[in-house]
Amino acid sequence: MNFVDLIGKKRDGLTLSYEELATVANGAATGAIPDYQLSAWLMAAFLNPLDEQETAWLTKAMAESGARIDLTGLPKPWVDKHSTGGVGDKTTLVLLPILAACGLTVVKMSGRGLGITGGTIDKLSAIPGFRLDLSPEEMKAQAAEIGVALTGQSPNLAPADKALYALRDVTGTVGSIPLIVSSILSKKIAGGADTIVLDVKCGSGAFMETPEDAQKLAAALVETGRRLGLAVKASISDMAQPLGSMVGNALEVKEAYDVLKGQAPNARFQDLCVYYTAETLEACGKVSRIEDGKAQALEVLESGKALKKFKEWVRAQEGDAFWDSGSLPEAAVVEPLRFGGAGGYVQAIDARAIGQAVIDLGGGRKRKDDQLDLSVGVEILVRVGQQIREGTNLAKVHASSLEKILEVGPMISKAFTFSDTPVQEPPLILGSF
Ligand code: URA
Repeated sequence: MNFVDLIGKKRDGLTLSYEELATVANGAATGAIPDYQLSAWLMAAFLNPLDEQETAWLTKAMAESGARIDLTGLPKPWVDKHSTGGVGDKTTLVLLPILAACGLTVVKMSGRGLGITGGTIDKLSAIPGFRLDLSPEEMKAQAAEIGVALTGQSPNLAPADKALYALRDVTGTVGSIPLIVSSILSKKIAGGADTIVLDVKCGSGAFMETPEDAQKLAAALVETGRRLGLAVKASISDMAQPLGSMVGNALEVKEAYDVLKGQAPNARFQDLCVYYTAETLEACGKVSRIEDGKAQALEVLESGKALKKFKEWVRAQEGDAFWDSGSLPEAAVVEPLRFGGAGGYVQAIDARAIGQAVIDLGGGRKRKDDQLDLSVGVEILVRVGQQIREGTNLAKVHASSLEKILEVGPMISKAFTFSDTPVQEPPLILGSF
């Protein structure tokens, strides 16, 4: 097959067959197709988006372009959860132990931070010793023992995505919904999951800034999953404001631990974890009503079963028992940021600005090889809609020095906007598919 013909077909808006899409995926995975031809094909697919069948075929071909974790022998369902990424999104750290405590098998590959959105791998690396390089065999053995295992992205799983994603990143083709869908789902399928729950974030701190785009992505993820025989549920959640109180790697681990301990500083984050537990239990047929799933989530949280599972998980991956040793990194300087007005209501907390501030504090990357300062971040002390007075502490900034706080503080202040009249907090869940 001449690859120029495949570029021409997509350029002219024609439909590709499974064999043709497998040529793209395998050519990317093996390096047989040069980057300039793949880039031209990606741009053609960006301008003439793949239809639903093509998206499913490309996803399947990408999933089959390398190794696949075979979970045969482990109790079903085999669950994976994915978030399209947000500011302060530490949901995986709480959801995985809850799901395992509910009796599900959870095997997950996670990524590093991308732009302003943090990554689970970076957050977990704040726990001294926590291994993020488990092999497929180690993942399977650990999941058999405690029901949960998580690793960083393996180059052997869905290698087509690794190659295509790197090219999309530098050719202006990241934002194509069919390409995003095939990228996300191919990795999940290669990771062995049969039930996938997706948290599509929407708002200034997310990839999808408008509800229309988020809905299109959520619907496409569910349809592609359905065509490939997976149980997929997707919901859209608000990412106009950061999720929970903490933004920053070690701070988010601390907040996740506090939720598992029953001391959630921000009920909205706990509500999200409870909601996605219920979605997952419903997706795999363990409950027939979302309310029953929420009740199960609250039971494992309140009884301490989820906390126990979290501790087993950290120990299994050789992480330090930071809850006893106090070994999470702590910032050198912590300064409050106060409200300077006479009084009012918090109207908005711009997630994008807070995410950018955490990058500037050193908690996220500007270049792909930047070393992170895992201790820094922003602790948000108010919620949208909350009434405030002169001098109310809005946030605490955790930084490496006072100079850094002086440099980044104004950006954090600007993230908060206020109203003289009462404000309604926007709903947490904006839709479900
Ligand atoms: N996350 C992914 O894994 N792939 C994309 O294309 C976008 C977000």
